[in-house]
Amino acid sequence: MASPKITVIGLGYLGATHAAAMAELGFEVLGLDVVPEKIRKLEQGVAPMFEPGLEELLRKHVAGVEGSSGRLRFTDSWQEIGEFGDVHFVCVNTPQKHGEYACDMSYVDSAMDSLAPHLTRPALVVGKSTVPVGSAERLAARIAAAAPAGEDAELAWNPEFLREGFAVRDTLHPDRIVVGVRGPRAEELLRQVYATPVAEGSPFLVADYPTAELVKTSANSFLATKISFINAMAEVCEAAGGDVVKLAEAIGHDDRIGRKFLRAGIGFGGGCLPKDIRAFMARAGELGASEALSFLREVDSINMRRRAQMVEMTREAVGGALLGKRIAVLGATFKPDSDDVRDSPALNVAGQLHLQGAQVTVYDPKGMANARAIFPTLGYADTAVDAVRGADVVLHLTEWNEFKELDPAALAEVAATPHILDGRNTLDPALWRKANWTFRALGRPTA
Ligand code: UGA
Repeated sequence: MASPKITVIGLGYLGATHAAAMAELGFEVLGLDVVPEKIRKLEQGVAPMFEPGLEELLRKHVAGVEGSSGRLRFTDSWQEIGEFGDVHFVCVNTPQKHGEYACDMSYVDSAMDSLAPHLTRPALVVGKSTVPVGSAERLAARIAAAAPAGEDAELAWNPEFLREGFAVRDTLHPDRIVVGVRGPRAEELLRQVYATPVAEGSPFLVADYPTAELVKTSANSFLATKISFINAMAEVCEAAGGDVVKLAEAIGHDDRIGRKFLRAGIGFGGGCLPKDIRAFMARAGELGASEALSFLREVDSINMRRRAQMVEMTREAVGGALLGKRIAVLGATFKPDSDDVRDSPALNVAGQLHLQGAQVTVYDPKGMANARAIFPTLGYADTAVDAVRGADVVLHLTEWNEFKELDPAALAEVAATPHILDGRNTLDPALWRKANWTFRALGRPTA
């Protein structure tokens, strides 16, 4: 069978990476986004966000970039997308609805509605967005009704498990590929699309629609639960005088538990885990299964409590009153190696301190522009040293490598008071204490 032509609809974190990866796997790819600015950037081989390795991959394949394979092009025309593609990946966002737990399906619905009238010949639409279970069945009917090709316009659900910061690697070498399909044609086409990663060892798991949708939300819920479990242990350590870092290491050596995702700190954020557990609870409620997921409410509140605890620790560190105190915040993004500040615990803590009257100065290696856009009233410094200059206390809130390499002795010279709080448990307390810093961390003894 000839190589299927691929389109990618929605060119954000997920779609831009997926489009570049598909071109890398050898396919002809056409990408569409409704934001013209994004298309303009991509056409020049510029990534719409910071993601290690993505720009290199784009420059390797975007048509018009010198020396590229030319396999990756972009358009804003739905008609062109319909005419071009055999397989259409839908990668649009499903954010949390304002003031509700449920996720907002309007971008997915509108992408499907825009695409369907242009499906004039047999085509496979593949949903990759994280959606409430039951969405695929609803959308399959909607597409078949609106597509001129009728039942020949099929739908599959193929959840994505990439992590920001590792998106390129996770897309090219996924630890599993899950496809929710209704028939053999969809499965065959997707086996063709993913032939290279499967040949290199990625398991290919075929499921029905609801199972495929649930694999994604349950995986993210499990990861969130693991983080909140260790953060709950941090709370107990704080009360009992234990050390959560040692505890995590010790329990993690048990293979059944595993060491990953047991790093205690200010908790999880980003565009996925927080909104996914909430949307999952909302959907379970609609299905009459809310009791099954009631523990996720606790997972969510442990997570939010850790941010509050960081604010309290800061208040204590500056002597009880935040008003007018100078606070250096190292890190703004929700995790390192990303410029994403969506639901960032670091920025949330910085914002709370600012609202309580502290003078907050933030530094982040990649997240400054995004942080400024959503929190323009915070102070921003160009370097970590500038942020720390004159500070009454320093908060380490996103674990960039750059912060691990800071020289505590040099920083002690510029801070007003050498007092640091580690909200990520990745700094070495001994190193900072040796340079005369008062070092405190969530879930760890004071000295
Ligand atoms: C998460 C999942 O890990 C991906 O598998 C999934 O594809 C993605 O969501 C998605 O749904 O699109 P991501 O949001 O990139 O990926 O970030 P994670 O690496 O999962 O980290 C999430 C948050 O948990 C970060 O704020 C991180 O700092 C925090 N975290 C992580 C901890 O607090 N402790 C840990 O031990 C690990």
